[in-house]
Formats: sequence, structure tokens, C-alpha cells
Amino acid sequence: MFSKPFLTFALTALVPCAAAAGVTGSAEGFAKGVTGGGSATPVYPTTNAELVSYLGDSSPRVIILTKTFDFTGTEGTNSWCDNYEASAPDVSVSYDKAGILGITVGSNKSLVGSGSSGVIKGKGLRIINAKNVIIQNVKIYNLNPRYVWGGDAITLNNCDLVWIDHVSTSLIGRQHIVLGTDASNRVTISNCDIDGTTSWSPNCDTYHYWNVLFLGSQDLVTFKNNYVHHFSGRAPKVGGNTLLHAVNNYFYQSDSNGHAFEIDAGGMVLAEGNVFQNVVNVVASGVAGQAFTSPDSTSNAACSSYLGRSCVINAFGSSGAFNIKNTGFLSNFSGKNVASASSANDAKAVSSNAGYGKI
Ligand SMILES: *[C@@H]1O[C@H](CO)[C@@H](O)[C@H](O)[C@H]1NC(C)=O
Ligand SMILES: *[C@@H]1O[C@H](CO)[C@@H](O)[C@H](O)[C@H]1NC(C)=O
Repeated sequence: MFSKPFLTFALTALVPCAAAAGVTGSAEGFAKGVTGGGSATPVYPTTNAELVSYLGDSSPRVIILTKTFDFTGTEGTNSWCDNYEASAPDVSVSYDKAGILGITVGSNKSLVGSGSSGVIKGKGLRIINAKNVIIQNVKIYNLNPRYVWGGDAITLNNCDLVWIDHVSTSLIGRQHIVLGTDASNRVTISNCDIDGTTSWSPNCDTYHYWNVLFLGSQDLVTFKNNYVHHFSGRAPKVGGNTLLHAVNNYFYQSDSNGHAFEIDAGGMVLAEGNVFQNVVNVVASGVAGQAFTSPDSTSNAACSSYLGRSCVINAFGSSGAFNIKNTGFLSNFSGKNVASASSANDAKAVSSNAGYGKI
């Protein structure tokens, strides 16, 4: 009778010792095969300068975050006074310079938070001219949230094989995630918590407008199991020449009148198995790109030739329509690593598993 509780205790106690520091799991979808810093001996930065150095140098690295790295105030402040609207009065505002430009991330890096302690405050990450990068289990927040040009949390441009997983972003001045106009190639964004809640929204409704922006050329983006919420626009905006596979995400808007998807010329969106809850406008009017929104089982069979399976219907609760059936671009999925899809019935699991501190 006594041996069983003892055994349970012994096993529980062993787990933290046995787990190697570093990345959990592997990327699904387009960035499958990404290794980041691989098996490099983990490093544990203790200062902002060490973190910046490890991320930017040319060595493959597994960088473990065990605390909050607070960049607010570290580069001083500056002020803007010209109003972007030429006809509006000029107002002088002071912003934190650290938020404007993110930390440079080089090739072959894994940046991984330990438990729920991996936090970067007041500065984002720039994965530019780099290949093979993993960002996992990290929270990035508080980049000049008052100001439209206050800074982007995660920027990708001219890169390949990037996996952003279990990342939380909140209180961001500009974009939570942005893929710039050069090719970002193969990218997987999974299990992220993109929280647009803000006291400084453009419509004074507590919902952030500039959330996720995909503008790249030849970009292949898998966007899976993300919790995208409290947004009023660009959630996401898709243009450039981006092939976006949006699968099993949970979009929750509450009562804003904005939109989730915006599909511009060149954008190609396959949306399946997603849940839209209280999203008044699932897609902004004026779709100029192409989309297949998996509207019914008969139409969804069109996916079989290219994905090797039928597409999975989306689910809508108190939400607008999303019914677009362009199939011409589906051939772009042929021969690629394509994420699986499960039925759109587990929104609660997506919202509670997404973000940092959950793995
Ligand atoms: C990254 O790793 C690959 C494979 O080992 C190597 O070819 C490449 O030169 C590395 N890149 C940098 C910037 O170190
Ligand atoms: C990708 O989709 C575009 C738009 O429909 C199409 O013109 C192009 O031929 C496709 N490319 C491939 C490789 O299937």
C-alpha cells in the first residue's frame, strides 16, 4: 500500500532532471526540419548585452532565458512632433527608443524560455538575412504601446526556416508579427498568443489594429493553433506573394467592428479547421488575392489532389461569413510539408495551450 505513492513521487521528481534544456518538439508544416541552434551547449544570458551578443553572433546557439530582460529606457527616449496626418495639429510625444528596433537574430539560433520565466520587455526580435531560427516559449511585450510607430515584436525579412512557437505578444506599438517584403521562405508560427488588448487602440475600443502582417515574396507560412484575440484589423493581413496555411487557430474578437483577415493582391490563403468566435468581419471587404475557406465537404474534396486529404471545415460562433472558393492556387501545396488539420471543435484547448509558459 505504501509503495505506490512513493513510486509516483520518485517519477515526478525525476522529470525535471531528465529533460534536456532546449527546444521542445519540432516544427510542423512549411518550416519542418528547422533545427535552430541544434545541439549546441546551452547558454544562459544574465544581462541584456549578453542576450544581444548571443543572438547576433555567428555561432550556432541554444539560448535559454531564465528571467525578464527589460530593455525599456536602456537607449533613452526621443520625441516625435510632426503629425502623420498633415492637416492635424503637431503634438510632441516622447517614446522609448529601445522599442523601435528589435534585437538582431542571426542564423542557427534557438531562443527558448525556461518555464514561464523567458520574458523580453520593451524590445522585439529581428530575424533578417538569417536562416534556421527557432523562437519558443518567450513573452515579448510593452513596446511603446501608446504609439503606432512604437515598434514591432517579431520581424522576419530575407530569411528561411523560421519557427515561432508558444510565443506571447502583447502591448505592442505596431505589428505583433511582420514578414517584410523580401522572401521569408519557409515559416511556421504555432501555438502563439497574439493579444491585441490595449488601452491605446486607434478606435478607442481596446482592440489593437496592427497584429499580423504577411507581405513577403515567395513566403510559405504555416499558421497553426494560434490564439489571436482582441484585434480590430490585420489578423492577419496577407499580401506580397504569400501562401498562407491558416489551420486550427482560434480567432476571438469580442465586440470590435474591425476584421480578422485582409487579403490583398498576391495573397493566397487556405483557411481550414479554424474557429471564429464573435468575429463580426472574418474577412475585410475587397478581397484582391485568392482564398479557399473550406466551406463545405463537397468543396473541401478539392484539397485532396494537393494536400493528400480533404480540407477541414471552419467553425463560426456569432461571426460573419468566410466563403471563398478559389482553388487555382492549391497546387502550390503539392510536394511541400503541409501541417495536419483536426476538426474545428477544440477552441478552448487552443486558447489555453497557446503562448509562453505552457510547455
Ligand atoms: C548555419 O549552419 C549551417 C549548417 O551547419 C551552415 O552551413 C551555415 O554556415 C551556418 N550559418 C552561420 C551564419 O553560421
Ligand atoms: C501558385 O498559385 C498561383 C496563383 O494561382 C499560380 O499562378 C501558380 O502557378 C501556382 N504555382 C505552383 C507552383 O503551383
